[in-house]
Amino acid sequence: MTDKKQFEEGLQERQKDVERVLRSYLPEKKGWQKTIFEAMEYSLMAGGKRIRPILMKEAYILFGGENEKVIEPFMAAMEMVHTYSLVHDDLPAMDNDDYRRGRKTTHVVYGEDMGILAGDALLNYAFETASHGLVETNAPEAAARAFQIFSRKAGVYGMVGGQVVDVERTGQPLTKEILEFIYTLKTGALLESSLMVGAALAGAGESDLETMEQIGRCVGMAFQIQDDILDRTSTTQELGKPVHSDEKNEKTTYVSLYGIEKAHKAVEEYSDRALELLDHIQGENPFMRELIGYLVNRKK
Ligand code: IPE
Ligand code: IPE
Ligand code: MG
Ligand code: MG
Ligand code: MG
Repeated sequence: MTDKKQFEEGLQERQKDVERVLRSYLPEKKGWQKTIFEAMEYSLMAGGKRIRPILMKEAYILFGGENEKVIEPFMAAMEMVHTYSLVHDDLPAMDNDDYRRGRKTTHVVYGEDMGILAGDALLNYAFETASHGLVETNAPEAAARAFQIFSRKAGVYGMVGGQVVDVERTGQPLTKEILEFIYTLKTGALLESSLMVGAALAGAGESDLETMEQIGRCVGMAFQIQDDILDRTSTTQELGKPVHSDEKNEKTTYVSLYGIEKAHKAVEEYSDRALELLDHIQGENPFMRELIGYLVNRKK
């Protein structure tokens, strides 16, 4: 088997594993509020790449973690927060997009009201889910630190903060500094969080957590610039979400500022930097290395 084939199989296996974990935490679809359970499942089980929970688990393994009852609820929680961010990002008041993960967006199918509530529900349920990890752990201090990181990186100092500046600055020319601020927060924060939470749950110390944060930041920059490139160069069919969404919304992106070629180069540089930083961590995780490399060349 070629290395590439082996990697792809490894990735698929892990994606299936994330889906098993997600399914195990999905609420039962019954009761008067049944619609919300359906909308949560609709958005969550639509088949994203599951990059964040996969990175979280690989970081956990890298630092020697081995308790599935602790890592799994945090993995599910991370994918729930990420999915809520997409459901709200697609709303008419934000990017107003009709497709996501190969299907109609949640608000198109369930209405704008339920789209907003499905996002709220996923966000809150994420915290409820992560708290199972707190109950199961034998290392409460490590789990508390992980919970703290998880909370902060999703909020106003993380993903939400980045979305605020993204929305507010729409249609305006941006400096490199502001663009980097937006990308580091709106996209980088959850990737940083994934790597840091996995490491923290396994008992990593503060200096290693800082390194994981820097790796996540580089991966986040590379990931968002690649997302901007694909918005220009891919097809809706392949991406599973509308192309040219940035142009439609008059977003200043890395690509609109510097052009495709420079953007490609930046993706490579950020990704190389992430791999260099990974060398500073004791222990090896070859799959994580390959995954970071793969994100640079991804087509969706
Ligand atoms: C999309 O994230 C939003 C960005 C941060 C660019 P992903 O590309 O990870 O989306 P899914 O989870 O695979 O659908
Ligand atoms: C969104 O960036 C990042 C989020 C926090 C959801 P984009 O608006 O570029 O993400 P896509 O292209 O819709 O997935
Ligand atoms: Mg957006
Ligand atoms: Mg969008
Ligand atoms: Mg985009």
